[in-house]
Amino acid sequence: MKRRIGILTGGGDCPGLNAVIRGVVEVCSKSDIEVVGFLAGWRGALNGDHRILTPEDVEGIQTMGGTILESSRTNVKKTPNGPEKIIETMKKLGLEALVAIGGDDTLGVANFLRKEHGVNVVGVPKTIDNDLSCTDFTFGFDTAANIAMEAIDRIRTTAASHARCFVVECMGRSSGWITLQSGWAADAHIIIIPEFPMNMDEIMEIVKKRYNRGKRYTIIAVAEGVTIEGLEQGDLGVDAFGHPLLVNSQLAKDLATAIEKRMRADESLDEKRKYFECRSLVLGHLQRGGAPSAFDRVLGSRMGVKAGELVAAGDYGNMVALKGTEIVKADLDVAVSVRKDVPASLYDACKYYFR
Ligand code: F6P
Repeated sequence: MKRRIGILTGGGDCPGLNAVIRGVVEVCSKSDIEVVGFLAGWRGALNGDHRILTPEDVEGIQTMGGTILESSRTNVKKTPNGPEKIIETMKKLGLEALVAIGGDDTLGVANFLRKEHGVNVVGVPKTIDNDLSCTDFTFGFDTAANIAMEAIDRIRTTAASHARCFVVECMGRSSGWITLQSGWAADAHIIIIPEFPMNMDEIMEIVKKRYNRGKRYTIIAVAEGVTIEGLEQGDLGVDAFGHPLLVNSQLAKDLATAIEKRMRADESLDEKRKYFECRSLVLGHLQRGGAPSAFDRVLGSRMGVKAGELVAAGDYGNMVALKGTEIVKADLDVAVSVRKDVPASLYDACKYYFR
């Protein structure tokens, strides 16, 4: 009987997903393994929505953003009889394994199905947030950081023309990777990330110093998951995996308003402070949109090829990962249970540039 496997993309979409899909399909087809693509992540595996993927179907797709299989944040663990339904779908379609492409939530489900229900899985780490451990980089991060960098580059000219302060908010959930990478690359004057949050006084000190040095504009890059002492954050609601919906937050706006207010009220500054303006910009889902960078196209392709090779060898239960310059097998259990934060050494190096 012909060997068959399933593949799915779960969680937030991310540039490079299509490259992985192609890699898996190309390698599997060489080993005469048929690939069944589930639609909309775990939801497709639950209800059986799928399409067969041939090399013809995936030609050239590594150049495209998003995912041809669509995605969703479906939590199998919270779905009544979720694991049983997936096992049933796999039996019906004659699948020996699943390739799950996702972040900690999607891979957490894959790991749960592996450990608790004996499902054969191969994990592929995806997220613009770059917060999965056991891999040096997740694909999607490079593209997102470059989009954010370009946005900050563009904000600079309008900020300078109006002598304004700008707060630019980047995605990344509880990790500051995108904010640090893009903010440092684009020469933001202050970079605030969840791993090393600053309070209002520390932020104001830098803004004021710049003002007193005659600097006409200031750019602040802030990660969406930051909590700033002294700023109110209302109830944001949560997604299917219980993560706060940071997209509902007013962080950038609230921070910009607070900076403007404090500057205008500060009598130690000259009279012109009364015209001080601070604006905000939330980059949001733009950071996940559009074509992947060359780095992400190739990283996604290499991870897809490795996942396909593991399938061909019947070597299940791991995640593929980038270690240095090599694509290797990594421990899925560790990858989904430990978050990869920005290390202090990296943030400290970047702090030399805050001025
Ligand atoms: O995890 C990726 C991510 O883009 C986060 O950076 C962000 O907080 C979240 O997803 C947004 O999720 P959604 O697309 O469901 O609004």
